Amino acid sequence: MTSFLCKIFFFTAITGSSWCFRNDSSPEENPNIPVIAKYFGTKGRYEEVNPYLIRDILAVNRSSLQPPSPQCREIHLTAIIRHGTRYPTSKNVKKMEKLYKLVQSSARGKDRWLHEILTQWTMWYTEDMDGRLVQKGVEDLKHLAVRLSKLFPTIISEEKLRGGLIKFITSSKHRCVNSTLSFKAGLTEMWVAYFSFADVEFQHAVNDALMRFFDKCTKFVQEVDNNPSALTEMDKFTQGPEMVRVQQKIADRLNVSYHLITYDMVEAAFYLCAYEFAIKTENSPWCRLFDEIDGQVMEYALDLKQFWKRGYGYDINSKSSCILFHDVFSRLDKAVNEHHSGQAVNEAVTVQVGHAETLLPLLTLLGFFKDSETLTSTNYASQRERSFRTSRMLPYAANLVLVLFDCGGRDIRLQPLVNEQPVVFPGLADQQESMPLYEDIKRQYAELLNGCDYETVCELFKPAEP
Ligand SMILES: *[C@@H]1O[C@H](CO)[C@@H](O)[C@H](O)[C@H]1NC(C)=O
Ligand SMILES: *[C@@H]1O[C@H](CO)[C@@H](O)[C@H](O)[C@H]1NC(C)=O
Ligand SMILES: *[C@@H]1O[C@H](CO)[C@@H](O)[C@H](O)[C@H]1NC(C)=O
Ligand SMILES: *[C@@H]1O[C@H](CO)[C@@H](O)[C@H](O)[C@H]1NC(C)=O
Repeated sequence: MTSFLCKIFFFTAITGSSWCFRNDSSPEENPNIPVIAKYFGTKGRYEEVNPYLIRDILAVNRSSLQPPSPQCREIHLTAIIRHGTRYPTSKNVKKMEKLYKLVQSSARGKDRWLHEILTQWTMWYTEDMDGRLVQKGVEDLKHLAVRLSKLFPTIISEEKLRGGLIKFITSSKHRCVNSTLSFKAGLTEMWVAYFSFADVEFQHAVNDALMRFFDKCTKFVQEVDNNPSALTEMDKFTQGPEMVRVQQKIADRLNVSYHLITYDMVEAAFYLCAYEFAIKTENSPWCRLFDEIDGQVMEYALDLKQFWKRGYGYDINSKSSCILFHDVFSRLDKAVNEHHSGQAVNEAVTVQVGHAETLLPLLTLLGFFKDSETLTSTNYASQRERSFRTSRMLPYAANLVLVLFDCGGRDIRLQPLVNEQPVVFPGLADQQESMPLYEDIKRQYAELLNGCDYETVCELFKPAEP
């Protein structure tokens, strides 16, 4: 390892570029990981959110879960999971092709990484890849299944799976269906040593009304999704001073004239680096087009987009998830009622697989990752410490897990986790216990539980209230 580092430093001294002045004594400084990897937004790798997984992809930290008493038992678990790592959509492949052609025809820079792009790298992305799950995405979900069952062994158990008490619901998109199958495969492969699952069929239900609610919410589609002016703040930021500087730096690195490097080109380059890393775990030469500051600016642009299109920007963004919100809480209620009446909980575990666009509106409706200030085109600097960071919230295989515990008597508690880390329900932070009472949570969300009617909130023209 020492000699490898020496070679890197020797090479650096010759080329004068600074990218390898890194030091692999911690995972964040691993030369195989792009310096900008933690800023990829929704194109980011799950391992960047939980870096301990780089060493051991099946590691879990049970000590981070502190039930208030040792007698607490899990009675139900709902997991809402984004699909795993995927290929780019055809829209992004087109943008990447355009950038690749520009670099091939016009780049005159002399750096070794550019030489590598021009002579060794080939454009292998094709439009027919169309956002499909890749092999790494299959593993994302298999590994997540194993880790969740290690975290909650009494409920995500072989017995429950064989008993048909683990239910699967998925979006109809192939990457989600494949992710669902991969999650199941993660469980069955782990337990196959003990029992054969060959003759057991595990059904999954396809439900777009639930997992792709955003497509069917008319008010959201018309006022936000199909409305270009909804993204004004992002557009302004991509034309503002921070982004212009990124464009100029990239043009300088390629040695092309400034006007050739538009925001679309910068985005395509950022995605190329992100896809090469997420899909092949390669620190590709495309990543050398960015330094860490550039990565942070790009991350803000991507966060602005999600904030205004799926997050706190417009009220309808989160309200479009009312249908999923009620689905989750009615299932939790049912589990509590069954448990109280002495029955076995019929649906012990529910795994719901969808999209970043499924998860973000729900997280927003629940009030997670909310900053005091709105994200705008002009407050990049003051938002540096924001909690609304899609790189941390929505990597591939991102997940919200809700676990109901019976802690004795009628003491029912609910633990939320985002990407396997315990989080605190907004408004319940003052409670001493890490795990709040289910009744307190329902009180906190009373307004939504009594309203938040999907049909009503998604109607374009609301009839006047009587
Ligand atoms: C690498 O990082 C560690 C701690 O982060 C530091 O102690 C060490 O001096 C660094 N090595 C080099 C060669 O910079
Ligand atoms: C596990 O979680 C505990 C409590 O949150 C924390 O103190 C500890 O550092 C974590 N361990 C690892 C290996 O992440
Ligand atoms: C940029 O390209 C021009 C030719 O178009 C060349 O003369 C110049 O040396 C290049 N600059 C660098 C820094 O590579
Ligand atoms: C996804 O599912 C389709 C259809 O079952 C299958 O052809 C394809 O190989 C799967 N892809 C992966 C990566 O599992």
